[in-house]
Amino acid sequence: MDWLATIAMAHGLHLSVVGGAVRDRLLGKSTPDKDLDLVVEGDGSWSWPAIQLLELIENHELPRGFQLKQSQSFEAFGTAQLHLQTPEGPLLCDLSSARSERYAFPGAHPEVKPADLLNDLKRRDFSINAIAERLPLSSNPLLDPFAGEADLKAGQLKLLHPLSLEDDPSRLLRGVRYGTRLGLELAAETTAQVDSTLAAWPWTNDAPALASRSRMELELLLSESCWRSAVELLESWRGLELIQRGWKALPPRSSAWLQRLGQWGHAIDPNWSAEELRLVGLLWLVPHQYNLVAIAKRLQLAHRQQQLLSRGLELQRWLEGLSPQNTDAWKASDWTFALEERGAKTEPLMVLMPLGPSRHLQFRRPLLRWLMCWRLIESPLSAKELMNQGLSAGPKLGSRLKELRGQAINQHA
Ligand code: CTP
Repeated sequence: MDWLATIAMAHGLHLSVVGGAVRDRLLGKSTPDKDLDLVVEGDGSWSWPAIQLLELIENHELPRGFQLKQSQSFEAFGTAQLHLQTPEGPLLCDLSSARSERYAFPGAHPEVKPADLLNDLKRRDFSINAIAERLPLSSNPLLDPFAGEADLKAGQLKLLHPLSLEDDPSRLLRGVRYGTRLGLELAAETTAQVDSTLAAWPWTNDAPALASRSRMELELLLSESCWRSAVELLESWRGLELIQRGWKALPPRSSAWLQRLGQWGHAIDPNWSAEELRLVGLLWLVPHQYNLVAIAKRLQLAHRQQQLLSRGLELQRWLEGLSPQNTDAWKASDWTFALEERGAKTEPLMVLMPLGPSRHLQFRRPLLRWLMCWRLIESPLSAKELMNQGLSAGPKLGSRLKELRGQAINQHA
């Protein structure tokens, strides 16, 4: 990206690569970057040099093979984004003006002001993410004021400063992601910071930024290829406590269930991705489900994810009220109509929820049979065929269709 640095330098701006791209290069990764975090330092004439650079690029001819597909700026934070097409594929550049940050309370939106690169590195989460390479690459040494490279080599995940986690507790979830992906262990002082920060939870101030950041971090974590190990690490590094206070442990076989939930759910309804179902599933596992819907709301889950949780809860409460003595005699059609009366026909995924680990084992079989088979069985005769046989449209036709479908389901079972 030296051409970008050349445009910047011609206007008194300095560009550095930070974060993931530097870290991955130090680990020997040689595949082309898909996203780059670039810090822009200015000469003081513009308050936000990243926005100045964006304007320069928008009005500049790019080198052969490069194309600016889309760009946006975020004035309030002094940041901008470039979506580029490059000879090596699409590249997302996050430009941020070198800045220092102050958090008024845990999880607040930071108050930011222009600063130099060193101060910009100081505000970051972990030592392994506070390494910069000034551009052009060939002529500049690594800037690694917090010995991030040494931590990376020693397999240590170290929070950068004593307020790192208090400033933004969602960094614990980021840490779990790095810990899993890069095989890192928590440094002793970082463990101590996790303990002291969690001891102060919930924080007195309302922190809407924290909730949405935590959700985004959970989404990323559950999208990692090694998400099953990440879920285990989330438990052992106390990350579950950010979801529900005092949540220490997952039920046995949780990750196997999350795996099935994602796989089956996506197969049943391809409009859902396995990742988003896993997030719903993780929340489903909270020990005290009475505030499950409130947690989902607080984390700002998508409406349909919230809906799936509340429909799952309704279904579960109904199942809890059933006694096996009464349902022993239920035929496949009785189960089918009872589930479908509760909305399962249009939202079949809700039936996956009460199948979570250690719940309703006695009803497992009919729920699974409905999901895999009974729900797909139709009446052998259609409404039209019944009308051709002389039945007129109306409730009688409806009950006949239901009766025929019930018979077909019972024959199949
Ligand atoms: N960062 C931070 N605190 C956060 C989020 C981000 O300090 N809560 C800083 C980190 O220095 C991080 C950089 O912003 O390196 C860019 O963030 P992000 O793009 O989320 O992470 P990457 O470092 O690119 O890591 P990856 O994409 O591989 O997860």
